[in-house]
Amino acid sequence: MIKAMNLTKKFGDFTAVDNLNLEVSSGEIFGFLGPNGAGKTTTIKMLTGVLKPTHGDIYILGLNMKENEIKIKRGIGVVNEEPKIYSHLKGYEYLEFIMDIFQMNDSQIKKRIVELCDAFEIDYLDKMIADMSHGMKQKLVLISVLMRKPKVIFLDEPTVGLDAKSAKILKELLKKYAEQGATIFLTTHILEIAEKMCDRIAIINKGSKIAEGTMDELRKIGKYENMNLEELFLELTASSEEIKSIVEQL
Ligand SMILES: Nc1ncnc2c1ncn2[C@@H]1O[C@H](COP(=O)(O)OP(=O)(O)OP(=O)(O)O)[C@@H](O)[C@H]1O
Ligand SMILES: [Mg+2]
Repeated sequence: MIKAMNLTKKFGDFTAVDNLNLEVSSGEIFGFLGPNGAGKTTTIKMLTGVLKPTHGDIYILGLNMKENEIKIKRGIGVVNEEPKIYSHLKGYEYLEFIMDIFQMNDSQIKKRIVELCDAFEIDYLDKMIADMSHGMKQKLVLISVLMRKPKVIFLDEPTVGLDAKSAKILKELLKKYAEQGATIFLTTHILEIAEKMCDRIAIINKGSKIAEGTMDELRKIGKYENMNLEELFLELTASSEEIKSIVEQL
């Protein structure tokens, strides 16, 4: 459902994503982890057709991005890092706008909107987006994606700004969608989420993939047998000694 081959993005002389290869199958929840600035958002932007790669090929839903950008965009859902949406619209106008774009204005989708609003406690669709809090906007974007039930969903730090109940509902919903065959690609800094939710995890650092596998496979890398994901992540991307010395010096 998602395939990246030798994916590279350069900004001038700086390489943000370096020769990345990824493959995610139907029904999988794939966690894409890495420190700040590692290249996660840049990768998602390329995989969703927002940024053109410097090199490499992308296949989504079996389609090549170079030839099928619009078709791919119709078939996927994207929840960005920042809920940047039209501030001059009211909540329900934004949902109508999305329904128009995707030509999905039927009774089925309206029923789903009511159910999703109920689940995420959204009772503010008549407010202007400009007047919504960060979490309120985040939930609006989330339901605008989930209402379409796309086969492939990309989420860049989706729980940031969500309260505990909404975050829990989102996690359970994503698991349910994956069980029904959807493919979920998500980034998160909350390693507990990745450890509990993801079927497979890739860790990226400074643009390059440094590890990939199920939790069990990652643990098997060398000395990490008894480690949880946080310990493993820090071991691979920094060292606990380094962190200790930084804290001591501050
Ligand atoms: N448009 C751009 N122009 C120049 N450099 C960019 C641009 N977009 C991203 N970068 C650089 O690419 C690198 C990767 O950024 P990216 O946003 O992909 O990181 P990230 O892994 O999503 O980090 P975070 O966890 O903080 O969200 C960073 O060094 C960033 O400054
Ligand atoms: Mg990011």
